[in-house]
Amino acid sequence: MSGQRKDDHVRLAMEQHRARSGINQFDEVSFVHHALAGIDRPDVSLATAFAGIHWPVPLYINAMTGGSVKTGEINRNLATAAREAGVPIASGSMNAYLKDPSCADTFRVLRTHNPRGFVMANINATTTVDGAQRAIDLLQADALQIHINTAQETPMPEGDRSFASWGPQIHKIAAAVDIPVIVKEVGNGLSRQSVHTLAALGVTAADVSGRGGTDFARIENGRREHADYAFLTGWGQSTAACLLDAQDATIPLLASGGVRTPLDVARALALGAVAVGSSGGFLRTLTDGGVGALVTQLTTWLDQLAALQTMLGAPTPADLTRCDLLIHGQLREFCTDRGID
Ligand code: FNR
Repeated sequence: MSGQRKDDHVRLAMEQHRARSGINQFDEVSFVHHALAGIDRPDVSLATAFAGIHWPVPLYINAMTGGSVKTGEINRNLATAAREAGVPIASGSMNAYLKDPSCADTFRVLRTHNPRGFVMANINATTTVDGAQRAIDLLQADALQIHINTAQETPMPEGDRSFASWGPQIHKIAAAVDIPVIVKEVGNGLSRQSVHTLAALGVTAADVSGRGGTDFARIENGRREHADYAFLTGWGQSTAACLLDAQDATIPLLASGGVRTPLDVARALALGAVAVGSSGGFLRTLTDGGVGALVTQLTTWLDQLAALQTMLGAPTPADLTRCDLLIHGQLREFCTDRGID
């Protein structure tokens, strides 16, 4: 059942990405052009550091899959691309492995094919401390992601209906494991309140993973016999809105959800993210063009991000936060409604 669900997620996510339309709020963020702001390319670094983590680049392949033969093959290819391009990578939810250890290899490839890379294990917020440790051990993970996804579970026919234990369980896991813990949404966004709660629960960082790309409420609705949760499509806040909303966060924020281009990466960094991830878009490149195409995309994005930093006068990704930004349209209305300057 779980393996079938993983295959369904990949198929439905790819259908969604091929038919993508509608607004993406990154388009409502623009840099003010300062014609003399530019610096010299050799003075630009892509390195980012947060909460004791040092990454050579501020871009990562975010959580996706594992648990079936087909998704194991995808993980092997994602791991190869991460290794070749030198980007951090997260596994898909490893609860499939915790339930059925016979699918271990479909996750383990993330480490065996990327032995020196930064690898994140991924679990849900109902996992026991022992389960979290087993997931970490399988991948010799450098960090642990815990996903929170009420807007996915709700329309999922076999999904969870009890969410109250998630916070206390996140607290237990964060206190018990000895690697950084990053809590992430799956495409519906984290509000300012959610980020503050996560900080109080002791997590290291939060990935806002907002609306604008892969829509899991829509995916799960597509798996139902009757698509009776269509009203949840588009639920939540965009990634740009989340970053603006949680500007006063006391833990570092990562950004994912609807990141389409190196310009979106620069926009998210300018809005305060310490690193930026993509899932559906990278999977589409892999599905359509193979590992070589994904390596090319990753290296091109990094090169073009460095080009943007050069033009904008930002020696490091963190310096992008000093750039002047214009916020337009619905995103501006969101800021007004939420009392954001
Ligand atoms: C995901 N995502 C995800 N997230 C997570 O924490 N655990 C998981 O197992 C999965 N599974 C998964 C499967 C597939 C096929 C996709 C495309 C995505 C969510 C992902 O990490 C990310 O938060 C959202 O997809 C938003 O980013 P994009 O896709 O808009 O770049």
